[in-house]
Amino acid sequence: MEEIKILVIDDERGIREGCRRILESENYQVAVAETGEKGIEVAQTDKFAMALIDLKLPGMDGLAVINELRKIDSEIVPIIITGYGTVETAVEAMKAGAFDFVAKPFTPNEIINVVDKGLIQIKERQEGLELKQEKRERAVDELNSLSIVDEILARYNYNAASLIAILQDIQKQFNYLPQNLLRHVALTMNIPLTRVYSISTFYSAFSLKPRGEHLIDVCLGTACHVRGGMNIMERLERELGIKNGETTYDEKFSLKSVRCVGCCGLAPVVVIDDEFHGKLVQDKVPKILAKY
Ligand code: FES
Repeated sequence: MEEIKILVIDDERGIREGCRRILESENYQVAVAETGEKGIEVAQTDKFAMALIDLKLPGMDGLAVINELRKIDSEIVPIIITGYGTVETAVEAMKAGAFDFVAKPFTPNEIINVVDKGLIQIKERQEGLELKQEKRERAVDELNSLSIVDEILARYNYNAASLIAILQDIQKQFNYLPQNLLRHVALTMNIPLTRVYSISTFYSAFSLKPRGEHLIDVCLGTACHVRGGMNIMERLERELGIKNGETTYDEKFSLKSVRCVGCCGLAPVVVIDDEFHGKLVQDKVPKILAKY
């Protein structure tokens, strides 16, 4: 786990060392400084998650220290330490950018609680940033996908008569037909979305759901059915932990039944990607899957 560093700035030695002891006992890494100026120097050489700052310091006061620390690291969480009767000033400090305050004299629990609250704030901020980053990446992915589809459409001169070939190319690229891309095709080619959907759903070669890296077609045509095709399907379902029509959790395999694949003499037949496995018996299934 990454070490959390906390800077304590207070001119009272007892307070500084007290905070250090309390926080180190909670496994935080602590640096101390007796003036704001020294605290700023320390903050320039290391990254601190939080700073506990005495409001009344000789020289530069706590508010000015918060300002300077924020200039060095805008993510630092400043917590004000305030003396008796100066809670109003501490509230002012919070308005000026402090995250919270703790009043002297404080108990170890009060210090630990205020630091815990600061950590929650840091975690929430990080989660918010990660979410934003994820959204940004998704938007970039979407733009990249749209430009790939635009290239495919241009290759076919936006010709509606080439719709099947266009959808084949899109599926080849993305492994399935994402709905946002189908909408883009309809819009760009100025054809009804219902037409794009009816073609995408009519041909079994098209899939509107993400498919696995390897496509397993189990033939359940008459000849294969009679020669145990269903047993092969059940064995594949057991081995992969999915049902007919599903994709494995790791998106490695998609399993589906198909009608006669045209080599009944080899029944029962399973086609994985473009490879035919004929005269199959259940016991061979694990060995065949292991190849992929
Ligand atoms: S029925 Fe399976 S290949 Fe013909």
